Amino acid sequence: MSPKLSSEVRLEGVGKRYGEIWAVRDVTLTILPGEFFTLLGPSGCGKTTLLRMIAGFARPDAGRILVDGEPIDAVPPWKRDVGLVFQHYALWPHLTVYENVAFGLRERRLPRAEIAEKVSAALTQVGLEGLEARRPSQLSGGQQQRVALARTLAVQPRLLLLDEPLSNLDAQLRAQMRIELARLQRDLAITTIYVTHDQSEALALSNRVAVLQSGSVVEEGTPEDIYRRPRSRFAAEFVGAANLLPVQVVELRETGVLVEAVGGVRLPVPGDPVRWRTGARALLCLRPEALRIEEATLGRETGFFATVASRVFEGDRHIYEVKVGEGTLLRVELPALGEGRIFRLGDRVRVEFSAESAVLLPQS
Ligand SMILES: Nc1ncnc2c1ncn2[C@@H]1O[C@H](COP(=O)(O)OP(=O)(O)O)[C@@H](O)[C@H]1O
Ligand SMILES: [Mg+2]
Repeated sequence: MSPKLSSEVRLEGVGKRYGEIWAVRDVTLTILPGEFFTLLGPSGCGKTTLLRMIAGFARPDAGRILVDGEPIDAVPPWKRDVGLVFQHYALWPHLTVYENVAFGLRERRLPRAEIAEKVSAALTQVGLEGLEARRPSQLSGGQQQRVALARTLAVQPRLLLLDEPLSNLDAQLRAQMRIELARLQRDLAITTIYVTHDQSEALALSNRVAVLQSGSVVEEGTPEDIYRRPRSRFAAEFVGAANLLPVQVVELRETGVLVEAVGGVRLPVPGDPVRWRTGARALLCLRPEALRIEEATLGRETGFFATVASRVFEGDRHIYEVKVGEGTLLRVELPALGEGRIFRLGDRVRVEFSAESAVLLPQS
């Protein structure tokens, strides 16, 4: 069973106001046919409000939404050909799995045989064959969520909207469902807009991600772009762990800038020098896994001197905090492989990294 067609969704300056407060502000995004697109942000940043507007349950107070080039503001929800799955998936408790999945098809008054075929196909897609006669109370949380997904897929929407669909599940099940959801979305090639506050979910599932803060999109790109080359402090800290080291721009160069950090250490940082001016204060973003630590006695010229302030062993890696200068702590993650040197509290070390892994960010 493949969708009739996969839609392109375009948001143009979309805003939504509750009283005096804009819950969504000037959001412009294009979601391509077949794409898995994630809206990522903390609780209250406007993710659900955006999805509700796309589904037709709320109207924008500014801007407009187009599906396949057609403005849909005047189209009621049931005519939008959109499938929506919530965190609280609300199955009918008195209906069987079969009847729950058949619900939307019966409403559309399809012939019995066609309903049976579509229900069976949808249940197969989510791996629930054989459970047709059960009631929701006889299913695990993960199975219930699959029924909700099958119910939505059975009507073959052109657009799938998922609002934190995995957040009610325990960690192990969440990880497993994440893999299945990615596979299903790939197989169906259905345009999917996924909402989550969980950055690892967003990185694992998405073709592209938009990071939202207080109703606005602060950043948009592939998971790799957003993780490796964040353009804002908010995105750097929200997506993954980030060391943010205060620095000052001391020289503009052709392919980057030279910055000075604590202790007078000067470091070249790649990037567009046009964005900076000499003397500007900035933050140097260094991901924990991009840092290495070595004994301070090696007499090398690069990196920072630091003191080991803490170490935690997590099986696959050691997580160190090292103190540079007066009090800035850097988090360093080193794979715990074989005979690698283990540092102890108070050890003097040198922190190394390659310039390509560093990103310069505005202060706020
Ligand atoms: N019906 C509503 N009436 C008033 N305020 C609302 C309503 N729905 C959402 N809000 C507010 O809009 C903001 C965004 O909410 P929401 O879209 O639910 O965020 P998210 O899904 O990212 O957690 C929040 O500040 C929330 O309190
Ligand atoms: Mg929400």
